[in-house]
Amino acid sequence: MIYFEKEGITLRHTNAEIQNYLESLVDPSNGKTLKETDAIKHIGYDAEKDTIVLLIELSTKSLEFTAVLNRQIAKIVKLDLGYKGVVIEYEQARIKNFTKQLRILGVASGKGGVGKSTITANLAIALKASGKKVGIIDADIYGSNMPKIFDIEHEELMGSEDGQLYPIVKDGIELVSAAFLMGDNKVLMWRGPMLGKILEVFFKKTLWSTDLDYLLIDLPPGTGDVMMDVKNLVPDAKILIITTPHISASSIAIKAGFAAKELKQDVIGVIENMSYYEFDGITHYLFGKGGGEAVANTLAIKLIGSIPIGQPISGHHSLFASTEPIGILYLHIAKEIMDAWQ
Ligand SMILES: Nc1ncnc2c1ncn2[C@@H]1O[C@H](COP(=O)(O)OP(=O)(O)O)[C@@H](O)[C@H]1O
Ligand SMILES: [Mg+2]
Repeated sequence: MIYFEKEGITLRHTNAEIQNYLESLVDPSNGKTLKETDAIKHIGYDAEKDTIVLLIELSTKSLEFTAVLNRQIAKIVKLDLGYKGVVIEYEQARIKNFTKQLRILGVASGKGGVGKSTITANLAIALKASGKKVGIIDADIYGSNMPKIFDIEHEELMGSEDGQLYPIVKDGIELVSAAFLMGDNKVLMWRGPMLGKILEVFFKKTLWSTDLDYLLIDLPPGTGDVMMDVKNLVPDAKILIITTPHISASSIAIKAGFAAKELKQDVIGVIENMSYYEFDGITHYLFGKGGGEAVANTLAIKLIGSIPIGQPISGHHSLFASTEPIGILYLHIAKEIMDAWQ
């Protein structure tokens, strides 16, 4: 064993040596070695307790994975290297550069009030119930209600030392909202193309977990301008269109879809919301009929699903459990969305 002095403490190994011993271990959450992912962020030594202190970054920080590594690291540090103890802290790895692996879906309607946010939130829940890790960007600048939908009150985004933001995590879903940038009841007063700036903050300055599978963007109302901003910042995003059965909604949704198509964005389909209302076994078409079909036919895209008028049985104001009928509809829609990337 090598002994040498550093700041008055006798060390048996240099950091580089300890790193060497550990970095061939595999991060069980992604199958890569700690060396490949540059996962060992800190190595320290507590001389009093003869204990090695480690900070390790994992692509998915969860008990099932940390327990495996704890055992392997303890074996190396205690048995092979001869230290009395080891303290390991784990950190969730964050996305530094967006790659095509992350599936980004812009949810657009052209017009407000058609249920875009409600659908985005419930789609996130259905994707999560299907085993996926999901993030949401609430980019509806003047109408951001995603925090309300998820019952998040007065939340401020937490910043890191280098000016990056951490998303809020609610029910396992990572969330950022334009509302968090504005503060409560304040109106965002930035100049210039707002959506572009908001998306820039949420894509370039936000520390999303590296194991996100889907990132859903609740887009503001608007057609050409909105799609242009999406194209500029997230050219790989696919687009989902939301409409109601009424022509006043579908005609604007078609405009948004055309704008996206002109910019060569992949428009994967349309969802018709508030399609019908079922009562006593009779279906009532309260908002008319055919909006979803009109959007699908005019844009030559798929009608992915139709959601009836209804409130969650669970008693929540907006979120449907995956076991109730409308929740099950969302699970089917989630499956179609996942298939769009196959
Ligand atoms: N299928 C539905 N049945 C009943 N109410 C709905 C339905 N979809 C949305 N809503 C309600 O309609 C309102 C507008 O929905 P929201 O998701 O905020 O629309 P948008 O984001 O398009 O402006 C909300 O009060 C929401 O709870
Ligand atoms: Mg909304």
